[in-house]
Amino acid sequence: MSAAESRTFDVVRELVLSAHKISTTAEKMDFYDSWASHYEQDCAVFDFRAPIIAARTAAAHFRGDRQAAVVLDVACGTGMVAKMMKKDGFEHFVGVDGSQAMLQRAKESGLYQDLKLVLLGEEPLSVQSGDFDVVLIVGALSVGHIRVEVIRELCRAAKQGVTMTTPATN
Ligand SMILES: C[S@@+](CC[C@H](N)C(=O)[O-])C[C@H]1O[C@@H](n2cnc3c(N)ncnc32)[C@H](O)[C@@H]1O
Repeated sequence: MSAAESRTFDVVRELVLSAHKISTTAEKMDFYDSWASHYEQDCAVFDFRAPIIAARTAAAHFRGDRQAAVVLDVACGTGMVAKMMKKDGFEHFVGVDGSQAMLQRAKESGLYQDLKLVLLGEEPLSVQSGDFDVVLIVGALSVGHIRVEVIRELCRAAKQGVTMTTPATN
């Protein structure tokens, strides 16, 4: 399938649901590695609104200087959350993800000052406590994704709060 062709809603839905059956982190990362090239196109097919909702929510509650703020985008994928935050005036982003191919897309977006390959839940987040003005995790807390214990690490990384959303798959 070429990058120009878009898949049908039913095909994308089956793909997303199939990911929920994966039980190991390694297999999950293989899934995301293979999805990276079509991820954003498929998100458009099922109108995945979590990145814009999370970005708007974080921006609405943030009281500091948006241009100076440093945003930690956990499970950043290809960079959809940072893209939305940038529209709201944020400029500094650090991304973390466990999929090399997703991170490569994020790198190509040119939005991030730093990108880290981290398998959350199995490896430490490896950022300094209180380093980040905003911490977001979007679309990565559903079944078989990042374990909920990781939220403690995200809270430690944040000066303020953490914005979390999970994806809708039906
Ligand atoms: C549905 S995508 C969401 C990407 C992005 N936040 C967005 O809203 O478009 C889920 C992301 O979580 C990452 N992920 C899932 N489990 C992970 C883990 N244990 N450690 C690190 N990243 C993980 C995947 O590689 C994938 O990029």
